[in-house]
Amino acid sequence: MENFDYWNRTFWAFGRGTLGRVGELTERFAGKDANVLLHFGGGSIKRNGVYDVVVRALRGRGIRFVELGGVVPNPRLSLVREGIRLCRKEKISFILAVGGGSVIDSAKAIAAGVPEENGDVWKIFVERPRLKSAIDVATVLTIPATGSEMSPNTVITDEESRLKLGYGDEKLRPIFSIVDPELFFTIPQNQIANGVSDMMSHIFERYFSNTPNCRLTDGLCESVLRTIIASALALRRDAHDYDAWAEIGFAGTMAHNNLLGLGREQDWACHGMEHEISAIYDVAHGAGLSVVTPAWMKYVLAEKAAKLAQFARNVFGLDSGGNDIETARLGIGELVKFYKEMGLPVTMVELGIRDDSKFEEMAKKAVLSRSRDGKEIPQGHFRKLFSDDIVKIYRLAQNA
Ligand code: NZQ
Ligand code: ZN
Repeated sequence: MENFDYWNRTFWAFGRGTLGRVGELTERFAGKDANVLLHFGGGSIKRNGVYDVVVRALRGRGIRFVELGGVVPNPRLSLVREGIRLCRKEKISFILAVGGGSVIDSAKAIAAGVPEENGDVWKIFVERPRLKSAIDVATVLTIPATGSEMSPNTVITDEESRLKLGYGDEKLRPIFSIVDPELFFTIPQNQIANGVSDMMSHIFERYFSNTPNCRLTDGLCESVLRTIIASALALRRDAHDYDAWAEIGFAGTMAHNNLLGLGREQDWACHGMEHEISAIYDVAHGAGLSVVTPAWMKYVLAEKAAKLAQFARNVFGLDSGGNDIETARLGIGELVKFYKEMGLPVTMVELGIRDDSKFEEMAKKAVLSRSRDGKEIPQGHFRKLFSDDIVKIYRLAQNA
């Protein structure tokens, strides 16, 4: 196990009825005199009543706020810039993000960009400086998926260059997050599946590691994966199953607050490859991941059979006579079966990508978007991937 630092400042209000605490927590963490930006997405919170509860709670405590809705999945840089202008004009001191990963990420980007008076916010994503300051962000999570409610990360798409870049700084970890599983009852089945795929991938990115002697985090990863799979299938049968949602809500946050990744080298190649797909084709992140992940597993199988076999044994209870390669194959097959049961795509065609015309471009972007000297920066650590590897993986994903 490697040495590590861990700093997680997020106050976590979890469980039934915790939405009712939004006024109390905003007042506690933002202060009575705060100027709050209420940030949200395309309208689901207005349809399911969450918006009304939040607005009533803020008004009831005399907390001033202005609104900025309209965040779309794969959140856009243009709205982030608009949010920054609004925050400066209204002297915003606190951002309350009510929504999923896209809303929360948009809020974090605004929070990082407001103090950058002399530069455009996109520079932060390209150059990745340490932030000197940021506005505090808090969240009411409406869809468990990205873990952004307790992560320091934000992922934004520049719609002009079609670049989707991530950035992380501890100052962006939310100051509080409300995870009330009853808010998840209105999520449509395809979005449930996308969220489940994403949280599983956050665990894979940490689990598939070359660092030896990480029994505790290996075991935690396997346990959370088993819990997600069982609970997700329960939600397929009944999307109002509170207990299943509570497990999924807990797991989604655990999957990406980095507890499961402590002391170990992490991979992140599947995320890197997926972000290029969603940047160009605007598909849901979780759907892109269910296509890329099995292809990546097949690509690394020959070299990395032992860990893939451990996954098959400890997550799915499968074994093929002690043979790692065959056991690993069984595990990949079982994962694909699970994705299919969830209604997730497992091929590029199912994702709506019918030809390979952009594969080279996406692969090059995945390894060059942060290179300063034109040399490829490989994706991943478990098995380093250069652009020719990535093209091969995209091709494998054409016919899984
Ligand atoms: O926009 P509204 O109308 O709210 O609808 C949303 C949206 O259409 C809907 N939804 C959310 N809560 C709902 C609901 N519908 C009904 N009932 C509810 N309770 O769901 C749709 C998807 O929402 P979105 O926020 O886009 O999904 P998700 O949470 O999966 O976020 C995806 C984004 O996060 C990034 C992804 O790349 C993608 O851009 N990621 C962020 C990470 C982070 N910050 O740490 C890590 C991840 O790896 C990921 O890259
Ligand atoms: Zn993700």
